[in-house]
Amino acid sequence: MVSRTLLLLIFLTVPAFPAFASMCIKCHEPHYEKTGSCSVCHRGNEETSRKNIAHSGMITKKYADFIINKKAVERGGKTIENAHCRRCHITAGKGNNIAPDLDTESRRKTAETLKEKLTEPTDYMPDFRMNNTVSDETVKYLLNSGGSMKNTSKTAPYVVFITQGKKSAFEDKCGGCHRLLTRKRGGIGHGDTAPNLSGLFTEFYPTDTIKPEADRWNREILLKWVKNPRRIKPASLMPPVVLTEDEENRITEEFNN
Ligand code: HEC
Ligand code: HEC
Ligand code: HEC
Ligand code: HEC
Repeated sequence: MVSRTLLLLIFLTVPAFPAFASMCIKCHEPHYEKTGSCSVCHRGNEETSRKNIAHSGMITKKYADFIINKKAVERGGKTIENAHCRRCHITAGKGNNIAPDLDTESRRKTAETLKEKLTEPTDYMPDFRMNNTVSDETVKYLLNSGGSMKNTSKTAPYVVFITQGKKSAFEDKCGGCHRLLTRKRGGIGHGDTAPNLSGLFTEFYPTDTIKPEADRWNREILLKWVKNPRRIKPASLMPPVVLTEDEENRITEEFNN
């Protein structure tokens, strides 16, 4: 009891730091005060005077302009559009949720970690061969939109699947050249010589190949394509693939999930 009263006394008599006083300024000159506290742009932990804890998860100076550098964010957004990242990922609240939600991940990860995934992608994440500036700006876009999206994702979280059960017809007939990421089965196919077909039936997949014949990939146009790609794109490098009706059903089904 005594110690509790004592603590309370100390608490009342020692002027507590106002909630907004950042411990960062014990070691650093403040700047950009108008935009907000240090953590708005740098994250980190402002409540401690221990450097390592203060700096943990910090956004370093190289990326800390992700709120104020509108030009970089805009260019990053263009890259994301042009590369059709949203056929696999959600970013700025839009996209397919078959790969990690980038609004969530960009709030959890440092800029350096995000950049590493872009420049050294693993597994079903395609290699876009981005140069340094392009990848930096893309990361700034992700940090910017992640920060403004405050947990709005309503879709189920991304999980890594282990493919089991019946052998996939896609794996068999298409997987030597293509890859496909699905929510139910995870990644199928292992080829890198043809486009990664993830998100094919959604609005986020590019449609140049089938224009003007159709404005979006669907079962019908896909089966027509597979039967004879050159009827749709005369110079296509994909050979015709013969499928049974069962295979047609199973393969088109893979694109629905
Ligand atoms: C509006 C975003 C923003 C806010 C808020 C902000 N910073 Fe920065 N900080 C940056 C940027 C951008 C840089 C990169 C260099 C520059 O523009 O000054 C940076 C650089 C730094 C550096 C490295 C300086 C150097 O020259 O190596 C330190 C240290 C730093 N900030 C600490 C802080 C602290 C402490 C606070 C809170 C008082 C804070 N920052 C608030 C954006 C911000
Ligand atoms: C105990 C002192 C101390 C505290 C507290 C502290 N820092 Fe630092 N900070 C340093 C020192 C020293 C460096 C120089 C590089 C190093 O040792 O990591 C540094 C470097 C930095 C840099 C430049 C590194 C880079 O590459 O961008 C930034 C930005 C920064 N600190 C931001 C912050 C922010 C934001 C906080 C509060 C959340 C904070 N620091 C709290 C001591 C501190
Ligand atoms: C074909 C689907 C696909 C496309 C298209 C794609 N990604 Fe990915 N991405 C993935 C997968 C799968 C992972 C998870 C890889 C892993 O965990 O190793 C991933 C991981 C990432 C990560 C790391 C996320 C984390 O949790 O750390 C970032 C960042 C990322 N992608 C950004 C992008 C950007 C930016 C684009 C567009 C330029 C893009 N991706 C396009 C499938 C894709
Ligand atoms: C021998 C390798 C190979 C096989 C097997 C193959 N494809 Fe392809 N596919 C390609 C190539 C190469 C392209 C790029 C076509 C081009 O020249 O435009 C392509 C393109 C595509 C496209 C268009 C992608 C786009 O971005 O426009 C679709 C859709 C497609 N294939 C579906 C399939 C399906 C479904 C199967 C299995 C039934 C399959 N492919 C089997 C090599 C293959």
